[in-house]
Amino acid sequence: MLVRKVFMSSLLVSLMAIASLASADQSFVKTTDGSALKIDSGLFDTPAAKEFLATGKNSYVGNAEAVAKGKKIFGMYSCTQCHGPEAKGQVGPGLVGPTFRYTKDATNKGMFETVWAGTNGGMGAKGIGLMDATDPKNGVTPDELLKVIAWIRSNGTVTGNE
Ligand code: HEC
Repeated sequence: MLVRKVFMSSLLVSLMAIASLASADQSFVKTTDGSALKIDSGLFDTPAAKEFLATGKNSYVGNAEAVAKGKKIFGMYSCTQCHGPEAKGQVGPGLVGPTFRYTKDATNKGMFETVWAGTNGGMGAKGIGLMDATDPKNGVTPDELLKVIAWIRSNGTVTGNE
């Protein structure tokens, strides 16, 4: 009986491990200190955002409609003020690469983390819930940020999905 119980529970543990591997989402880290960045998976509420959560790929890159929306959002969140109308730099650095202040920003996952939770060098968090201490609903959603990144990529040669 005991042997059987042990067997059953180890079977359960292995099944759970397999299940968590099968649905393993990307784990994000903060650009500021490399610590874990938890983002509510419920915020990834569009097909593109879900795909990004699962794979780290931004399917909006090269999608003209998403790129046009991203350009609008870039203006709405005043990114333009610091990074210029074509994201090639103004007060803040250019964002189109091919070299980046944070080398991981050559990937879409890395750039997402940088914009979502900010840096130590003058770039505040823009993710919803982090951007504005007075309003938890203020800030970009994952889907919006993927569109913004798609627009940034459209101005350079790096796609971030390499
Ligand atoms: C108040 C000015 C300001 C605003 C507004 C701003 N940024 Fe920045 N951003 C900066 C500065 C300054 C840096 C450099 C930070 C550093 O060196 O740590 C930066 C860095 C970045 C980087 C990293 C670039 C690299 O080379 O690794 C990205 C990506 C970025 N910003 C995107 C955005 C986006 C998208 C928005 C709008 C949602 C935005 N920024 C709004 C000032 C700003």
